[in-house]
Amino acid sequence: MKVRELAGDAEKRLKEISETPRLDAEILLAKALGTDRFGIFTKYNDEAGSGAEELFMSFVARRASFEPVAYITNEKEFFEDTFFVDGRVLIPRPESEFIVEAAVGLLKNSTQAEVLDICCGSGCIGLSIKRATGCRLTLSDISEKALEVAKINAARLFPASDTVFVQSDLFSKISGKFSIITANPPYLSERDMDDFVVKELRFEPENAFFGGKTGFETTEKILACVPEFLKPNGYFITELGFEGSQFLDKKWSGLELESIIKDYSGTDRTAVFRKV
Ligand SMILES: C[S@@+](CC[C@H](N)C(=O)[O-])C[C@H]1O[C@@H](n2cnc3c(N)ncnc32)[C@H](O)[C@@H]1O
Repeated sequence: MKVRELAGDAEKRLKEISETPRLDAEILLAKALGTDRFGIFTKYNDEAGSGAEELFMSFVARRASFEPVAYITNEKEFFEDTFFVDGRVLIPRPESEFIVEAAVGLLKNSTQAEVLDICCGSGCIGLSIKRATGCRLTLSDISEKALEVAKINAARLFPASDTVFVQSDLFSKISGKFSIITANPPYLSERDMDDFVVKELRFEPENAFFGGKTGFETTEKILACVPEFLKPNGYFITELGFEGSQFLDKKWSGLELESIIKDYSGTDRTAVFRKV
């Protein structure tokens, strides 16, 4: 079949399960043809070839069963880089880029700064900060499998990497003091898990989502520990769940809430705390 026909057929098939069927079809087709999305436009009237067509059909079948595009292509754009992803890690979300922007703004180009990214998953947040500032970086996660993926991304972005990896339940195995600590912790509540972790989200690791009964419990544990691991005038930057900012009225010992950043939909998404 011609490339154009394959794209059109897949778009029709994916309409039922995806809000972006054409985009999904084009990304998967580009992957099957070994090109990028712009590359397929130049091949629109060419025959795809039986190997590429078969591969593309298998991709579309996986997508039709709700598997996210990023797990099929094993890549996801985040901030200024493309990260390797698979079912061992959460797929990086655009709203987490606010953490990177806030950290980069605070650090400028301070190459001596020590940054800790806990709950690192693919490493996208910490590695993006390191790319932009040249800081020293520690990545930690409770999941050994997630750290395997973070190591792949660190090796790709920094071939002579000095990044430190720590498998740790929150701060249990962390030592030292950091200029900035970042986290995108699991923050879905029990109710959210039932309501949202269906279809595409059920492909992602459950421990990347569940933050406790209200969703805020994991963040609360992090807030309690964070001052001990921050240098004087250090900052803690964390992502919040949909209703996470309602929990921020409370005073946190050793920390002052400096700002809350809204995401593209106007939701309070990122909280910046300063050590006091
Ligand atoms: C929402 S994901 C964020 C991943 C990545 N930082 C990102 O933004 O794409 C949360 C991560 O927290 C990790 N995690 C869950 N509970 C943890 C704990 N108690 N200690 C450390 N990491 C934990 C999960 O393995 C998962 O990788």
